[in-house]
Amino acid sequence: MFDKKTYINRRQALKARLKNGVVLLPGNSESSANYPSNTYLFRQDSTFLYFFGLNHPDYAALIDLDSGEEILYGDDYSIDDIIWMGPQPTLAEQAEQVGVTRTAPLQAIEERLKKAIGQGRRIHFLPPYRGETTLRMASWLGIQPQRLSDYVSVELAVAVVALREIKDDQEIAEMERACAIATEMHTLAMAMCRPGVVEQQISGALDGVALRAGAGVSFPSIVSQNGETLHNHYHGNVLTDGRLLLVDAGAETNLNYCSDFTRTFPVNGRFTTRQKEVYDIVLAANDRAFELSRPDVCYWQIHNAACLVIAEGLKALGLMQGDMQEAVAAGAQALFMPHGLGHQVGLDVHDMENIGEKYVGYDEETLRSSTPGLSSLRMGKRLKPGQVITVEPGIYFIPALVDKWGKEGLGGEFINYARVREYLDFGGIRIEDNLLVTPTGNRLMGKHRPPVTTEEIETYMAEHRQ
Ligand code: GLY
Ligand code: MN
Ligand code: MN
Repeated sequence: MFDKKTYINRRQALKARLKNGVVLLPGNSESSANYPSNTYLFRQDSTFLYFFGLNHPDYAALIDLDSGEEILYGDDYSIDDIIWMGPQPTLAEQAEQVGVTRTAPLQAIEERLKKAIGQGRRIHFLPPYRGETTLRMASWLGIQPQRLSDYVSVELAVAVVALREIKDDQEIAEMERACAIATEMHTLAMAMCRPGVVEQQISGALDGVALRAGAGVSFPSIVSQNGETLHNHYHGNVLTDGRLLLVDAGAETNLNYCSDFTRTFPVNGRFTTRQKEVYDIVLAANDRAFELSRPDVCYWQIHNAACLVIAEGLKALGLMQGDMQEAVAAGAQALFMPHGLGHQVGLDVHDMENIGEKYVGYDEETLRSSTPGLSSLRMGKRLKPGQVITVEPGIYFIPALVDKWGKEGLGGEFINYARVREYLDFGGIRIEDNLLVTPTGNRLMGKHRPPVTTEEIETYMAEHRQ
């Protein structure tokens, strides 16, 4: 945990942004996997972690904006629990670690909330995303589970996003650690990669690195020689000479700050000319995003600039044709990159996505576009110093999408379908890095960037392959 002052200051800052009422911040509970006592790895709610720091199930917190009170709700362990779990700190001891002086049993929260509701006071809460929390909140608040979303507090959403999206120095240091773990994961994947290895052997080894050095992976790793499938979690393929392996993987530190990197490299350690040609276009798009990322630039504009690099590169290879500015305005390059350029990273790998994209990725000024490609962009708003974002351009040859666009005549004048069909066995390439927006521009996160140019990758693989 950070020093208690950090959590005290964060709660003060939240109170300063809200007028009145009661803020309800539920922590997460254990979640059963296949029978009640066999649970998934516990993951605390990130907003609860941000304000209350305690990585422990079945806690909830209230902040009374009128009286200033902060109350941590939870239950102390009984002797029966301690027999199974060993000595445990009390609720009060844990509360003290994060600067909270008032604690109460979990069941007392309902009475306090119902009393506040009876007095006509506003209860501020964020959209729940787990079944257990939804049911618990519905019962505490006397609202049907399916109606909870009608009562979500926009003021709280806006205030939480404003605070969490700007990372302070100790958060940045923590995220540097998450990036260092990711570098270890990606270089291990390069070292393990060769024909005959099963993808699962690599993904399992990456899980091991993430768990050895932190709280585990920040999302289920994507380790696939079918990199054209964007979120491919099937890891059963045997790696084949001549193919590319796409690894999209990141880690969480023990304080649950995340990283998210993608590297794509040749199974046999050497890029073919055709693979290198496509790779260098994606890398140029990644470089362009670094060139342009600075405060006050809208992220959707950086997305479009990276897409223009991709479109121009594909035109040079004969896969696209015509005016590429017009092609990008029409979203024709989305045949090859049907996703957005990136997203924020923090206590969640897609930071704060549970709060609602309208407040996290967009704002009063920016709205998600309906143009192909841009329509998949999770974040369009202006950048600010202190944000950590990913840039993750890619080029993919997705046979089903080529087929559909071809049949429907989509992107028609800009796409050379005959040439594109020559690449249907290519797979996909994505290159993802994490950057910090600084007052004057940006800087790469991770002191040791995983090898990224084709030359760096080939050299690394030649020297380290097992
Ligand atoms: N890990 C999914 C992504 O890159 O956004
Ligand atoms: Mn990723
Ligand atoms: Mn990402």
